[in-house]
Amino acid sequence: MSSIRLTQAKTMRGEVLVPGDKSISHRALMFSALADGTSEIRGLLRAADPFSTLSCLRQLGVEIVDDGTVLTVHGKGRDGFSRPSSALNAGNSGTTIRLLSGILAGQPFASTITGDEYLVRRPMKRIIDPLRLMGANVEGAADQKPPLAFHPAERLSGITYSLPVPSAQVKSAVLLAGLFAQGSTEVIETIPSRDHTERMLHLPIEHRDGKTTIRSSRDHAVQPCSYEVPGDPSSAAFFIVAGLIVKDSEILVRNVGLNPSRRGFLDLLRRMGGSIRLQNERVAGGEPLADVLVKHSALRNPGNVPAEIIPNIIDEIPILSVAAAFGEGEWVLHHAEELRHKECDRVTAMSRTLRAMGVVVDEYPDGFGFVPRTAPHGGAFVTMSDHRIAMASAVAAIASLGESTIDNSECVDISYPNFWETLSSLIAN
Ligand code: S3P
Repeated sequence: MSSIRLTQAKTMRGEVLVPGDKSISHRALMFSALADGTSEIRGLLRAADPFSTLSCLRQLGVEIVDDGTVLTVHGKGRDGFSRPSSALNAGNSGTTIRLLSGILAGQPFASTITGDEYLVRRPMKRIIDPLRLMGANVEGAADQKPPLAFHPAERLSGITYSLPVPSAQVKSAVLLAGLFAQGSTEVIETIPSRDHTERMLHLPIEHRDGKTTIRSSRDHAVQPCSYEVPGDPSSAAFFIVAGLIVKDSEILVRNVGLNPSRRGFLDLLRRMGGSIRLQNERVAGGEPLADVLVKHSALRNPGNVPAEIIPNIIDEIPILSVAAAFGEGEWVLHHAEELRHKECDRVTAMSRTLRAMGVVVDEYPDGFGFVPRTAPHGGAFVTMSDHRIAMASAVAAIASLGESTIDNSECVDISYPNFWETLSSLIAN
């Protein structure tokens, strides 16, 4: 595992085309596999996480042909999967294990799904509980962590489930199991989480009294599709923040997905005074898109980060906190306990990165706070093998005085294999 050395950039200039959206890539693969007929996927994120989903689906008997540009998925229909000959491996991917669990719960054969040394530490009780309520026969290992073992259920029945934590992964696991259940399954959200599953599967949605109810059932048809995956806003966020905090910078990030359940970080950065212009706004593959032009800006920190936007910005909090280290005023983040259950404990990881930059950080059980007092300096940043911590630290490094190191630079391969090349192509010294 190699460490990377970075120094402060004088300025950042140029254009970036970020890779495909990770959440949409996983779903395009899974939903194509579930459909009766052939689907095509363009713009898939070619990175370790979606490739974990792809190899699990192949193990379930799904034929997927990749010509390097288009993936052609020969869907098996809901009842066409075959028993895998060995345990499915979700690698580092929480989305793979949680969403596929909804599908595995409905199969007439036994299966096991596990993952790498980081994934096996992540909580799965949140999906095991509702799947068991539906009648699924699923067992976790100690503490309900992976591996998860599935045995055929006598039958799955629809449930009405109010999400105890706002989580698109839990919502999706339940709705996918609902496609195999007798009767209707309803998932109720009070705080919205990303809505790619319901959009892409065209599930019925009802908004009432501040709540959203999404329904699925065995009768809901899953159609083969031609998917066009937009650029990932969570990946774009690293270059958007780099453009805002590195002096004299101007960066155009093209083809950025701007689904309302994902664009909260842009709105927050604008409120902080960031010069962010949307150009060429359009809709492709059912998702809003734009090119995002950013320029170096003086940022004013938000004080308390509003609790209701946290699920929307959950993956961008590491890079948003880097932006705030270059801003003026208070950054106070509470209600983000979920951050402790991501690819690593991101509250601890970001508190460490910010401290290494000279920021005095208060760590809370559910977040962290600080007021930047001096110009951040470089340091020895520790990724905890988490792709987003590595990329947030890289942006911190190029904006900070002096030199920095970042350990385990390969971990960006989870979501952004060309990250280091793209970063250096923008540095204009
Ligand atoms: C994802 C949902 C989010 C997010 C993760 C991807 C998805 O997790 O953090 O990176 O694709 O559904 P939760 O749903 O657990 O909040």
